[in-house]
Amino acid sequence: MSLVTTKQMLLDAQAGGYAVGAFNVENMEMVQAVIAAAEELKSPVIMQTTPSTVKYASTDYFYANVKTAAQNANIPVVIHLDHGSSFELAMKAYRSGYTSIMIDGSHGTFEENVAVSAKVVEAVHPGGVPVEAELGKVGGKEDELEAGDDNPYTDPKQAVEFVEKTGIDSLAVAIGTAHGVYKGEPKLDLNRLSEIREVVSIPLVLHGTSGVPDTTVTECVKRGICKVNYATDLRIAFTKGVKSVMDVDSDVIDPKKYNAAGRDEVKKYVMEKMKVVGSVGKAE
Ligand code: 13P
Repeated sequence: MSLVTTKQMLLDAQAGGYAVGAFNVENMEMVQAVIAAAEELKSPVIMQTTPSTVKYASTDYFYANVKTAAQNANIPVVIHLDHGSSFELAMKAYRSGYTSIMIDGSHGTFEENVAVSAKVVEAVHPGGVPVEAELGKVGGKEDELEAGDDNPYTDPKQAVEFVEKTGIDSLAVAIGTAHGVYKGEPKLDLNRLSEIREVVSIPLVLHGTSGVPDTTVTECVKRGICKVNYATDLRIAFTKGVKSVMDVDSDVIDPKKYNAAGRDEVKKYVMEKMKVVGSVGKAE
């Protein structure tokens, strides 16, 4: 199939009471792993890249990888820019052919966040590409974007104003999750999520989901989350696979051998999470 956008994919998830997993890919093998998992489980899927990933290998490279994966598959696939850190990067991804774009203005003031998000919406909506933006701050460190100590949660009333003023298609909420590896068990403000859902009608997005207990993720989906982001755990899974080969034979020099093991681990992980978010069989 050709690549699709997140617009209808997330509206379908919202109507159907499930979420779509958005998995951060950082090399060809991760793309192969995610597409294989999605095909096997007949699940719609989003693959996404952060600013540091596209700095490493460009939006064109990742677009080509994911487009090839999608073309050879029978499920809806999206290529999404995760945490677009500037208007310029959002445009770069758009020109490369990305079918969904996040602009993350959450590190600036409310007014600055509105301004940059609305500017991206205005630029990419005519081409049919939907936009995700973030209000409040997800904790931890995502690429070069440090959330800082204040780490405010999304305010429901402000969220209504933000959505109205920007025209965005989906909203990333800050309810206590953080990027990276959690030190303890994360405490999520689920009531806040329900309050946001009551007043904001567009699909809601959960960031920082690696390490969040599956039962909590399921509860978030019940309360209105339609897109669930996983990045750190895919890195851990890939590295685990690579190490498993290296540990047995430290003289191995064929990258295909250890990369294939990384790919297998990522596929297993992604299949587990597709079951958690409820997207299995939704591409049938
Ligand atoms: P983690 O995998 O680090 O929890 O975060 C994923 C994410 O939100 C990417 O935007």
